[in-house]
Amino acid sequence: MKQPQFIITGDGSHSLWIPDLDETYHSTHGAIQESKHVFIQHGLMHWLLHQTKSSVSILEIGMGTGLNVLLTYLNLLTTQVRTTYTGLEPYPIPKAYVQRLNYAAQLARETDCPITCQDLRATFERIHQGAATSSCHLSDHFLLQKSKCTLQSFCAPPNTFDLVYFDAFSPSKQPTLWESAVLQKIRQMMRNHGIMVTYCAQGKLKRYLKQVGMYVETLPGPPGKREVTRARKK
Ligand SMILES: C[S@@+](CC[C@H](N)C(=O)[O-])C[C@H]1O[C@@H](n2cnc3c(N)ncnc32)[C@H](O)[C@@H]1O
Repeated sequence: MKQPQFIITGDGSHSLWIPDLDETYHSTHGAIQESKHVFIQHGLMHWLLHQTKSSVSILEIGMGTGLNVLLTYLNLLTTQVRTTYTGLEPYPIPKAYVQRLNYAAQLARETDCPITCQDLRATFERIHQGAATSSCHLSDHFLLQKSKCTLQSFCAPPNTFDLVYFDAFSPSKQPTLWESAVLQKIRQMMRNHGIMVTYCAQGKLKRYLKQVGMYVETLPGPPGKREVTRARKK
């Protein structure tokens, strides 16, 4: 398979494009914009608003560039929430790509960014350091557990995750990942009232989510995408 290619998306942030699949890792309208909107605003912030726990356990399906890890870390930095972040990625990006991805520089330009570009860059590099299956602390409060495996082969005990970022390739490119049995597996690993967020808003996905016992919300999407989905375990 050909290596992913760099692209610049609408908000100036990088994404990757896989020629063989003709699929991008993020919205071409803006990678950072999309990740913030779907996973941070509709996922993490929603969860933080509606609970009183001092810890959160997050599963990301398709960790890819690590952008969602970096954004989650940044958004929890000024809180005392203890975070365990499990990132599944069967095809880690080449290490050389980490230096080129411009997320630290882009985020450091934002007026409300709580850390310097240098610290952002160091954190981003740390996300990708070490073996593809390994753990490291990004801070005293933030444990990252990377796992080089597919969702299909991943196992976690029932009721493990508060929050799931479902960021696999689209159903048209990876249909098996969006099937009912896979969604049932995700549901089992979620805690009661845990939430799953995804950029996908297909009717079929929402039907399957309801069938496996999730309460489903259709939410406004980021620019270029009308709707996204949030599901809560009943
Ligand atoms: C849409 S991209 C993810 C973007 C990523 N969250 C980011 O911010 O860069 C989908 C990711 O899912 C990964 N993937 C492919 N097959 C998978 C599988 N069976 N289980 C889990 N992840 C998979 C891909 O390698 C890719 O990194």
